[in-house]
Amino acid sequence: MKQFDPHSPVLAIESSCDETAVAIMRGPGTILSSLIASQAQEHSRFGGVVPEVASRNHLLAIDPLVHRALEQSGVKPDQLGALVATSGPGLAPALLVGASYAKGFSLALGIPYLALNHLEGHLLSPFLGAEEIPDHLALLVSGGHTQLTRVRGAGKYTVLGRTLDDAAGEAFDKTAKLMGLPYPGGIEIDRLAEKGNPDRYEFPKALMEKGNFDFSFSGLKTSVRYFLEKNPGVMMSPEGISDLCASIRKAIVGVLLEKTGRAMEDSKLQSVAVSGGVAANRALREGLGKLCSSNGWQLHLPSPELATDNAAMIAFAAFHHLLAGEHSSVSVEITPQWQVGVVR
Ligand code: KG4
Ligand code: ZN
Repeated sequence: MKQFDPHSPVLAIESSCDETAVAIMRGPGTILSSLIASQAQEHSRFGGVVPEVASRNHLLAIDPLVHRALEQSGVKPDQLGALVATSGPGLAPALLVGASYAKGFSLALGIPYLALNHLEGHLLSPFLGAEEIPDHLALLVSGGHTQLTRVRGAGKYTVLGRTLDDAAGEAFDKTAKLMGLPYPGGIEIDRLAEKGNPDRYEFPKALMEKGNFDFSFSGLKTSVRYFLEKNPGVMMSPEGISDLCASIRKAIVGVLLEKTGRAMEDSKLQSVAVSGGVAANRALREGLGKLCSSNGWQLHLPSPELATDNAAMIAFAAFHHLLAGEHSSVSVEITPQWQVGVVR
């Protein structure tokens, strides 16, 4: 097998959930191609992602997508320096498709294969293009995970807190489902909340005691369920729906902002980075902007395309590992429950 040549492009595959994504990247930030085939609409009628359906769709999408990415980037397979695939956390039947494809391709080309953690891809996404990852606090808020992490460079992660039950994105999606809104509900709640009054209804915030950086959003979900049972009329008017969305968004974003602010004060860091699908949320972006400017902290946000699942973030995080001489054996299994970072 050839050694990784840092000047050769890396091909990365993401298939942990309902998006098949392929990216080809040169160096730490030259995206030659980044393609996404989303199945969200197909899963929408089930109200969530069905693993077997996701797996079958990945299988259909992956090969044409890789060929399109190669064509678009003008890169020939024998010019690639490494193959990377998201190897966890995620849905096992979905992960298997991308990881098997990348392993097979790397074996055929005789180049390194790297199994990458999806959360690490999100975590580093705000720094895409950077040769070095600065010391910072990372708030990762996706559909499956919510985590506050102290980052001391690529690969050095200390977990300060994470969710004990539902993730922030899941809280958006599940409350949206209770309201009868389409999946994925986070985007829908965010959109409808723009016209609503966030102070109209009060929802609980959990684990708010000092020094606690863990999260819990299942109580909020239950409280929205009871609220809807008691107040069915709210869903009859556009104003009621918007106010409810704005109030739910305020409750979720409020917890994220407060805990991030406290963790920043505690750790005496100067930089905060936010990643994952919920990083696209308008209220969160605005709230963090205010929090950071009033404290003189630097805020790193991924572009909205890099916030939700994509393969460019997988290629970027992988590049840092490959550069450090790391790669994986092709016999390494997928890791559906893979966590990122050491718990402090
Ligand atoms: O990171 P991501 O694309 O996939 C996972 O790795 O989970 O995150 C998807 C999550 C979904 O829960 C979706 O509802 C949420 O991100 N999301 C949003 C917004 N855009 C996506 N949540 C709130 N506001 C948004 N604008
Ligand atoms: Zn994700």
